[in-house]
Amino acid sequence: MAYNADIVRDRYDNYGDREWTRLEQDANGILLYEVHKELLFRHIHKLDNVLEIGAGSGRYTKELVDICNELTVVDISSHQVKFNKQKMKELGKIDAIKAFHVADMIDMDMFEDDEFDNVVCIGGPLSYLLDKEKEGVQELLRVTKPGGTIIMGVMSIIGAFSYYFNGILHEKEAYGIDATKWVIDTGV
Ligand SMILES: C[S@@+](CC[C@H](N)C(=O)[O-])C[C@H]1O[C@@H](n2cnc3c(N)ncnc32)[C@H](O)[C@@H]1O
Repeated sequence: MAYNADIVRDRYDNYGDREWTRLEQDANGILLYEVHKELLFRHIHKLDNVLEIGAGSGRYTKELVDICNELTVVDISSHQVKFNKQKMKELGKIDAIKAFHVADMIDMDMFEDDEFDNVVCIGGPLSYLLDKEKEGVQELLRVTKPGGTIIMGVMSIIGAFSYYFNGILHEKEAYGIDATKWVIDTGV
């Protein structure tokens, strides 16, 4: 299955405020949030120039902006960027953010090579890239300074399988066991 930026953009442009609330609704969300936060706090330092890719509504933007020197935010969805800006304004943090960009992470030509000390890409963007995954990782490497840090996350098959188990069961009932095998084989 090939990467289709329009599908991703469309999904997150029509996501409402669910991105803002998803990490506080249940124990799984809270755990995800705390584990990621711990990693960010461990690797990002006060003098760092940081790029957050796929920032979504800003759950981590609001933390990152307090622990680094400069923060730049990127997301493919104009809705998510608008939402993020609004939240940062409400929290009084908007002026501390260097820039917001609506852009696809496989094409970030607005940034120089080696521009950032840290690049953060968590919560799914890499997993959506499918056959363009290597290009995405290449872009992360290009914009990160030599010796810098990239903090990235992907959705594992096991994690996604258990999280979406009811949907997978539903597909099995509708389309048979081959539909389940397809999910396991492709991760999609
Ligand atoms: C599940 S949200 C995660 C938001 C935040 N990083 C978090 O972990 O809470 C995924 C975000 O990645 C963005 N995204 C997906 N593919 C992207 C791409 N190719 N380039 C930039 N952003 C992307 C989506 O628009 C969405 O806002």
